Amino acid sequence: MTLLDGKKTAAAIKEEIALSVTELKKSGKKTPHLAAVLVGTNGASMTYVGAKVKACDLVGFESTLIELPDTTSEAALLDVIENLNTDPSIDGFIVQLPLPKHIDEDKVLMAVHPDKDVDGFHPTNVGKMALELPTFLPATPYGILELLERYQVETSGKNVVVIGRSHIVGRPMSILLSQKRAAGNATVTLTHSRTKNLKEITLKADIVVAALGIAEFLTGDMVKEGVTIIDVGITRVEDASKKKGFRLAGDVHFESTSKKAAFITPVPGGVGPMTIAMLLKNTLLACDRNS
Ligand code: GUN
Repeated sequence: MTLLDGKKTAAAIKEEIALSVTELKKSGKKTPHLAAVLVGTNGASMTYVGAKVKACDLVGFESTLIELPDTTSEAALLDVIENLNTDPSIDGFIVQLPLPKHIDEDKVLMAVHPDKDVDGFHPTNVGKMALELPTFLPATPYGILELLERYQVETSGKNVVVIGRSHIVGRPMSILLSQKRAAGNATVTLTHSRTKNLKEITLKADIVVAALGIAEFLTGDMVKEGVTIIDVGITRVEDASKKKGFRLAGDVHFESTSKKAAFITPVPGGVGPMTIAMLLKNTLLACDRNS
């Protein structure tokens, strides 16, 4: 079994990005600048956004964190987005999800200018992604493609089963893996909460991408020998033996599945760090397009 080490791979990608930033600075070009908008105090979101800002510092990007209270109105958030859209110093920005319930997420994502949408969530960019036109790929699926490619996991002609149809991970992942591209050309089955006989389907998979958000859902009896497993989940599970009172669990039961797997991502240290690295890559691309 080989661990698909997202932490190590992301570090290598960040080094590559840092080198590009050094070159940009040397030639007097603009330093890439990412902004992140965080509404409210969701613990996981605060952790993720903090990690994104820290990663910017590490590679030499400029970053701006805009923290807004839970009570922020939709109109006020749309104003903040409009300011970021028109601020020439900002190359790209993200609005961390989920948003408080009183804010219409679709409306917010559509307000982000597609040229600054480094999350790749705007309908224009989703459309371009689906049509294989150049665009910002959503960071988590993009990170998974990169991990598969760098570890030379064969995807061409393979049966891939994606569990979960979210707009952020499952749906784009299923589209990208089926395309004519590196880490593509797979035969993809997209499964979800209404799928019948899921185990019958996952048992035939050469690659399983688990992105449903249920801790340790995929167990060893659901996969075949030699499978590649990509675990996108990250849930806090109560654990009195831990100092913080919780541990982080993926959507995959690591102990039972890793016995059968040829390749598997750990949680933490698998897909998570890759997501951040690819967000930086998109920001570099956005800055490059602007210069
Ligand atoms: N929430 C969970 N994943 C993501 C992501 O990739 N981008 C944003 N903006 N919010 C998220």
